Amino acid sequence: MQSFAAAFLAFVSVLGSLPARSSSEPVKLQLERFEQVGGEGIADCSKLRVRKYNRTVFALDGTLHMLKDLDSSYEVTVRVAYSTMGNNQFNEYPMKLPQKSICRLLVEEYVDYQFIWGESTTLPKVAKGTKEFCPFPKGEYLFRDMVPDASFIPPVVPAGLWRMSIVVLNPGDVVVLQLRIFYRVVKGKGM
Ligand SMILES: *[C@@H]1O[C@H](CO)[C@@H](O)[C@H](O)[C@H]1NC(C)=O
Repeated sequence: MQSFAAAFLAFVSVLGSLPARSSSEPVKLQLERFEQVGGEGIADCSKLRVRKYNRTVFALDGTLHMLKDLDSSYEVTVRVAYSTMGNNQFNEYPMKLPQKSICRLLVEEYVDYQFIWGESTTLPKVAKGTKEFCPFPKGEYLFRDMVPDASFIPPVVPAGLWRMSIVVLNPGDVVVLQLRIFYRVVKGKGM
């Protein structure tokens, strides 16, 4: 799923604009929910949801059905928003994220972030050094209680409720699909 790769990449990118804190507490990412906005002809996420895996862990589970091949005419960018009050009022986080063709994204970023979802999905695997991987193929991708590997998140990220939107555009200025992941960043004793 290009969305997760882009999303987590964005998450890493946003860190550069955050105030540095001296804290080095471990950080945990707790999934809250997943939402599709528009793009019913491109993806069907109605069978994908965040579910409680056990007392403390939430996981992404189900099926992401990509209804068409996404060729290089599809572009992707990521928007990240933070809810200061944790009340679902979100403020867009200022970021300068490149918007790029999904095919470039697959070989330039996705390849380095696949570890986040690991073996718990049937998403395409892109081998390191791949020069071209295109299109992102249509099909049903399974998520089996996927718990993101949060080890890449530096401790400077503010705790609280976050929303990451993977935005798909085609042509480059028309939003055709948004996949939104809501999650909490939890630190220290809150874990
Ligand atoms: C919940 O599941 C995670 C992942 O398998 C595991 O690390 C954790 O110990 C479990 N927690 C409880 C309370 O069972």
